[in-house]
Amino acid sequence: MGSLWHGFADMGAVERDGAFEVARGEGAYIWDTAGARYIDATAGLWFTNVGHGRREIADAVAAQLSTLAHYSNFGDITAPVTQELAQRLSAIAPVPGSKIMFTSGGSDSVDTAAKLARRYWHEMGKPGKTLIVGRRLAYHGMHFAGTALGGLAPNREGYGELVADARTVEWDDPRALSKLVDEVGADRIAAFFCEPIIGAGGVYPPPADYLTEVRNICRENDILFVADEVVTGFGRIGGSWFASTRFGLEPDLMTTAKGLTSGYVPMGAVFAAPRVAEPFFSGGVWFRHGYTYGGHAGAAAAAMANLDIVERENLLDASKNLESLLHEHLSPLAGHPRVAEVRSGLGAVAAVQLADPSEGPAMVKAMRAQGVSGRAAGQGALQISPSFVITEQQVIDLAAAIERALG
Ligand SMILES: Cc1ncc(COP(=O)(O)O)c(C=O)c1O
Repeated sequence: MGSLWHGFADMGAVERDGAFEVARGEGAYIWDTAGARYIDATAGLWFTNVGHGRREIADAVAAQLSTLAHYSNFGDITAPVTQELAQRLSAIAPVPGSKIMFTSGGSDSVDTAAKLARRYWHEMGKPGKTLIVGRRLAYHGMHFAGTALGGLAPNREGYGELVADARTVEWDDPRALSKLVDEVGADRIAAFFCEPIIGAGGVYPPPADYLTEVRNICRENDILFVADEVVTGFGRIGGSWFASTRFGLEPDLMTTAKGLTSGYVPMGAVFAAPRVAEPFFSGGVWFRHGYTYGGHAGAAAAAMANLDIVERENLLDASKNLESLLHEHLSPLAGHPRVAEVRSGLGAVAAVQLADPSEGPAMVKAMRAQGVSGRAAGQGALQISPSFVITEQQVIDLAAAIERALG
């Protein structure tokens, strides 16, 4: 009997079957404690963008921790490396001049954005704009706001009312958002939260023009558009740092984490466009919000080293290249009788959708037996989101292993 309570787990099954203990990683591979090697199909939980085993990040963190681990980011206090990182993020932000508030992860970022959206309208003299809107199938983390915004019903069951004034609309039809605006009035809606590609809900790329249309609805009705780029940010969508840049979304707020440090150290960041930051930067008004570890100096050092690697090794191009490689090598799996469809072709993400979602856990185990560490997201969607350093041969091996596991 172990003492560890895993996240998102049937602990009875873990007690019965034991845990899958991962001991080390190198590039696109991981090894378990028995020494068996696996292709890491998911880059951990969508985050190891630069691959495992990067000494350079570990060294940067060690150097920072032995100089100053962290102090505070409240009031006027910060550390030079944190300032430097904020400057760097602002320079690559989809909206130039964005201000950066650091968090400890994606759920923190979403909670921060939800509160900031409401606070912004309060400052703008519209305190009635408190409704936050998410989409069916969406995943926005597991704090109260993110759970309330999420569109995966089982994640919301059994907690009573999570957050007052939170609503969910259909994920793929802009008219669902317009309808809500007509129903409740734009003067009630603070923000619309949108993953450019639905990730944990099962990897669903947006229908053509969906993002542009919901962006326009938000603009026309003075609703803040929040791009949740916790998964898609920092290159996962390929060719640019953010999906928002690739799709021209100009988000009012953008939530990030994961790829910021490639998960070497926990860290997240909220990007606030100048319009949203302005009332809080012009003097006299505080956003009474912040986290002890926001802007943690060691985490900021990890992020700087991680971004250096992405730039030096042209990993945004590598990720763009993976968009077609994953599509080419995974889409033939759609012909397998156990597979309903393969969703691929946008960004370094794909899903092999099982015809019978209940086969997800068994398939994950069958994949392990074939040398692939994977996961079933959404409803039986085998998540494929490798690190950007995976080679074409490893993608071919990955597809072949999944095919054998399906057989
Ligand atoms: C889109 C999105 N938002 C928020 C989160 C929550 O991030 P975290 O688990 O770091 O709190 C996730 C995590 O997968 C996510 O995919």
